[in-house]
Parts: sequence; C-alpha cells; structure tokens
Amino acid sequence: MTTLTATIDNAKTGYQDFSIGSFTFRRNEYFAYVDYPDGEYVMPIDAFLKALMRDIAWGFFYGTVNFDEVFGTTNHYGNVDLFIGATNEEYVNNGKDFMENFPSEELMEVFQAILSDWTIEGFDPFAAPQETGTAWGPKNGNNDEAISRTRQVAQRMIGMPGDTEIRSDETGYTVNRHFKDVDQSQPKVYAEPGFEDQIHGFNLWAHLSRSDVTWNPSIVSICKQSLLCPTTEEYILPVEHGNDRVEWFLQVSDEIVWDIKDGKSSKPRASLIMRAGDVACMPADIRHQGFSPKRSMLIVWENGSPEIMEKIKNGTVPRVGVEF
Ligand code: PHB
Ligand code: FE
Repeated sequence: MTTLTATIDNAKTGYQDFSIGSFTFRRNEYFAYVDYPDGEYVMPIDAFLKALMRDIAWGFFYGTVNFDEVFGTTNHYGNVDLFIGATNEEYVNNGKDFMENFPSEELMEVFQAILSDWTIEGFDPFAAPQETGTAWGPKNGNNDEAISRTRQVAQRMIGMPGDTEIRSDETGYTVNRHFKDVDQSQPKVYAEPGFEDQIHGFNLWAHLSRSDVTWNPSIVSICKQSLLCPTTEEYILPVEHGNDRVEWFLQVSDEIVWDIKDGKSSKPRASLIMRAGDVACMPADIRHQGFSPKRSMLIVWENGSPEIMEKIKNGTVPRVGVEF
C-alpha cells in the first residue's frame, strides 16, 4: 500500500518533528499530522493543541482521551495506549486501527515537547477562543508560561491557613467578562474560640468566576474518595472523554449541551441539555463532549477510589451509578 504524506518544509515553517515508537508527529501552519505505519492522520492544529494540553495537564486522565473520533490515548495508570481508530468502529471493522503502548512518562515527555514547540506566542490552548490568539502560522516564539500552568490542588479548604489564597483582583485573577453578575462577597464565619483555623467558608462561585482557563476541572475538595472538581466552560470541550468509571456532572450555572456516544464504537447515544441545577450521572461505557455557548460553571464529581483500578482491570466496575 502506498501512503500519501503531507510535504512539510521545516526550514520554512520552523517547527520540529517528533517521534515515539512507530508514530511521527509533524505540523505546518494549519495542521497536525500523525504518521503511523498504515498511513497519516490529519487534525486542525488548534484542535490538536487544545486536546494535547488537556491530556498532559490531566496526566492522561481517567480512561480514554479522544482528541477527536479517531486519535487519542487510553490510560492504564502507569502505561498508556496511543491509538488511531481504536475507539472508532469503522476503523476497527476495516482493519485500519493502530495502537502502541508506552510507559506513561515516556509518552508524557514527547507530548510536552510537542506542545512546547508547536504552541506559538499569543496562543493559549487553555483559554476560550475569544480570550486568546490563534494557533496558526509559522513558528513564532512560544507560550511556555501558559502551557506550564499547574493546577493548584487544595490540601484543605481554599482560604484556610496553609492552603490556596482566595482569588481576588490582588492575586491577579480578575472576574471573567461572562461572570460580572456573580456576587463577590465572602461568607462571615463565627468560629468558637480555638477553632478559628479549622472552621471556614468561602464563596465558590466568586472563586470560579475568576478562573482564567476553560474545560479544566480542578480538585477543590477531597472528602475520602469523593473529589469535587469545579470548572468553567466556554465553547467546546476539546476532547471526547471516554470515562472508565461513573462520573457525575452538576451544572451550577448557565447551560451545556452534551453529545454522548458509545465509548467503544463512537456510535451516537444521546444528546443532553443541562441547565443550572441539573445533575447527570455519566455511565462508565460512554464518551462525552460538552458545548457551552457562554461561560458556565460545572462541577465534575469524580470517584478517586483506589479499589476502582482493580475493578476496571477485571471488568467489574459498575456501569451506572445506581441500579433500581
Ligand atoms: C469530562 O470529560 O468529564 C470533563 C472534562 C473536562 C471538563 C468537564 C468535563 O471541563
Ligand atoms: Fe468525563
């Protein structure tokens, strides 16, 4: 079989090529190219970088991160599959799927190098489209500052001594243009003497209204194995997440439309409109992608149970949250 591959003049575009195993990654002004033994897969560069940013920031996440319907990664917690078409029935049925497994840290290193080299000055893959520049064009500087943001994981409740400061104008986080109506006042807490550093409250909506990133759930509280991960959303979730465990969504402001497909085949399953106050339980065998027409607030409720890894491996993980 002959394969057609795009001609890229690196001397002209200025971008580096990257390889791992039998995959090679190349970019030009508009596209990312993934070369694998059976051919070449092409994605728009902005979509590719936004998905790559999430896969890196989330450490390959829970289960599968589909960059689109064809290309992605599946996390086995320690090692990771890099695939073309493995979660797409048409690719599989036509014998066009390809997969290679890598130690997580090796793939992570290559992914980070790609993201750093291919992200140009002024483009922030975490930002909403209206709040950043474009990803297109020849190599022009970098934006390592934006792509090396790490999530500030709460050790105790935000605002408690020893933990993250409550966001305010002084901390450099300003209220997003879509959240100007969010009340910024903080609750008054009257602790019994001696309990001042143990009892606390803060305004989560004010905190979220100052988020400078989109589609990036961050742990703000951990209670045993229950992780509450609020996030602010605008435009399109850059990945189709194929979760490997049940996951809950609590829509706390505005509206998100979720496109839900079968996790394995990519066949359409459901379309869901979530409005403020709606709660949904996403089954463990689907993939989902959200569309948020204006910045909205979502709480993703994750199950961080250590036993769940064993259940995923031996196939006994519950498919739904509750069986009646
Ligand atoms: C998800 O895949 O469940 C997910 C990812 C990022 C978000 C929200 C939901 O911002
Ligand atoms: Fe998910």
